[in-house]
Amino acid sequence: MTAAPRPWALLAELTHGCPLHCPYCSNPLELVRRSRELSTAEWTEVMRRAGEFGVVHTHLSGGEPLLRRDLAEIVTAAESAEIYTQLVTSGVGLDEARLADLIAAGLRSVQLSLQHADPAASDRIAGYRSFAAKERAAALVRKAGLPLGINVVLHRDNLDALDAIIQRGLDWGADRIELANTQFYGWALRNRDALLPSRDQLARARETVEHRRQRLDGTVDLVWVVPDYFDGVAKPCMGGWGAVSLTVAPDGTALPCPAAASLPDLAPPNVRDHTLEWIWDHSTAFNRYRGEEWMREPCRTCSRRAEDFGGCRCQAYALTGDAARTDPACALAPEHGVIRALTDTGQRAGARAPARTGGYVYRKPGGG
Ligand code: SF4
Ligand code: FES
Repeated sequence: MTAAPRPWALLAELTHGCPLHCPYCSNPLELVRRSRELSTAEWTEVMRRAGEFGVVHTHLSGGEPLLRRDLAEIVTAAESAEIYTQLVTSGVGLDEARLADLIAAGLRSVQLSLQHADPAASDRIAGYRSFAAKERAAALVRKAGLPLGINVVLHRDNLDALDAIIQRGLDWGADRIELANTQFYGWALRNRDALLPSRDQLARARETVEHRRQRLDGTVDLVWVVPDYFDGVAKPCMGGWGAVSLTVAPDGTALPCPAAASLPDLAPPNVRDHTLEWIWDHSTAFNRYRGEEWMREPCRTCSRRAEDFGGCRCQAYALTGDAARTDPACALAPEHGVIRALTDTGQRAGARAPARTGGYVYRKPGGG
């Protein structure tokens, strides 16, 4: 087994419960029931051990983490372990008293999701009337003086409104706006036909981002997470398998990336049964795609293998049925034709109808 440096980040998926039903949700198709979630004491222990293990940053995420009534206690546990806490939320359920409790517990920053600049379109994509709550949440966070990030998942249905979305984020006082093109696994893969943009849409969006970046001149951080079906290059997913961060799912399952629960033969360990040290250093799941020994051709001898790590294992599995194959997003991958066929089809469809909207399978327990 390859010795790996210790992780610095923990994605704590506190619950899969969520009032929203976004069709690109990064949670697995099989959502963890609330009755199987880790208890307050178990999350407290996860944070204590993570701090001892060298983790310095945690995203408190979900689902909607505000559904956990013990959220402030979990923040306190992270703060006691000297871990920086960022709340990743839809904004639904955040009021002044709740935010004050979280800040008193040690919360450091908030990342708020936004689906669209237009309230009705935002609510339609979320499958829940939530825009007003988001607007209120942004105002509360700014009033409290916490750093505010806005996170927007981009797709066919909102890319053409990108400039207005950026403006909405600026109006809300964001320090950072993350524009993340949809990654197609889990729910997003199920909704790929409705979400896949056209090349023209992406080209216009890139221009918008560049234009806005020049005007903002570094005063607000505009992050563009590149779409990985269109450039013929594989992304260095998660900075490499089991390389920099780990995810703990609501029931304590420990994963090298949030989507890895979809890999059928991974047998991921659980924090209820093992220490984080054992999970990180010795579990089969965290070692399976670490380093380069698992790679096949063309990755095995490719000059880019130390930069992109052969791409995304979950995408390789989703598109080829084998997580050890080269990510089909790469133009050198034997299965790259699968992606080309999709983007070419999307391009032709896009020429006819640039922004077909809706027709989603909304996220809900039981797989939609
Ligand atoms: Fe990356 Fe593998 Fe493609 Fe080379 S062949 S660019 S290592 S995904
Ligand atoms: Fe799992 Fe990329 S999402 S490795």
